[in-house]
Amino acid sequence: MTTSDPSQDTPSPSTGRFLKAIYVYEVPVRLWHWVNALAITVLAVTGYLIGSPLPSTPGEASANFLMGYIRFAHFAAGYVFAIGFLGRLYWAFAGNHHAKQLFRFPFWDGHWWAELFVEARWYLFLEREPKLYVGHNPLAQFAMFWVIGIGSVFMIVTGFALYGEGAGVDSWQDRVFGWVIPLFGQSQDVHTWHHLGMWAILLFVMVHIYAAVREDIMSRQSIVSTMVSGVRTFKDAGQPADEDAPAEPAHSRRFHAGRKGGAAKTATPHAPEPVD
Ligand code: HEM
Ligand code: HEM
Repeated sequence: MTTSDPSQDTPSPSTGRFLKAIYVYEVPVRLWHWVNALAITVLAVTGYLIGSPLPSTPGEASANFLMGYIRFAHFAAGYVFAIGFLGRLYWAFAGNHHAKQLFRFPFWDGHWWAELFVEARWYLFLEREPKLYVGHNPLAQFAMFWVIGIGSVFMIVTGFALYGEGAGVDSWQDRVFGWVIPLFGQSQDVHTWHHLGMWAILLFVMVHIYAAVREDIMSRQSIVSTMVSGVRTFKDAGQPADEDAPAEPAHSRRFHAGRKGGAAKTATPHAPEPVD
């Protein structure tokens, strides 16, 4: 389908039914997503090698700087990760409604919890039909909030505390994060927790990529292409479960189809389709 004319709903070439295209993820969110994914990949590979160094390296010992390069790559990616996270946090305030989701945990919203369990059942193949979402589904939001929202802060704080040890007592890292190592006990404790944090993030990444590909195929909305183009398209004309989302600021409404608020309110009732 095309999004070149945002004011129009476009009939799906395959079904003839009407599709909506909604601009969901703005450029800073998408840019951060892919830079962050790359930074985490570098951090995980180099971090693993810091924790479990290679048993031997070829050549003259004095000509070898392998661990130095590995640590340098880790620290450089650590700075990219930390600065990117601050930028993403800023965009939660400056960006559209969906940009806030990563940092929101609607603990008191019973409806949200109910939908989270529906979504968990859908992932476990216990529901026949998925719900339609413009933003993240509640289960995805839950995982993203805890592992990436909170988890990133944890990795940055423990990472810079460890960095402060090498940078020395008067470094800014030591002045800002010097309280962390005594809080945990001693340096090795922080190493261990920082290391465990990596596995929590890597577990998320594995499930996340599986879910993104699975939902791209099985759900009722576009997934992978949405994190590339920013635009969500729908496979049927149903009513999104999060359609009461507030309207986005005018600057983010470039691809908005249909009415203010981004919901498919003019849509015909959804006819459930078998997912098996
Ligand atoms: C280190 C690797 C990755 C991490 C840590 C990660 C993390 C995240 C986070 C935090 C979000 C929410 C974005 C936001 O609201 O700001 C997200 C969304 C998304 N990610 Fe990733 N991601 C990773 C890799 C990937 C890869 C390789 C793919 C492609 C298969 C992918 C596909 C997506 C998609 C499609 C969404 C949007 C989901 C939706 O439409 O609701 N991610 N990811
Ligand atoms: C997703 C983010 C990150 C991951 C997955 C990660 C992973 C790791 C791992 C697995 C280790 C080895 C721990 C051990 O077993 O001793 C490590 C060490 C370390 N990391 Fe990270 N890290 C991340 C973010 C950061 C950040 C933001 C910084 C800040 C610059 C940082 C700085 C350090 C330092 C200083 C060490 C100790 C190096 C050494 O002792 O030689 N890390 N990291």
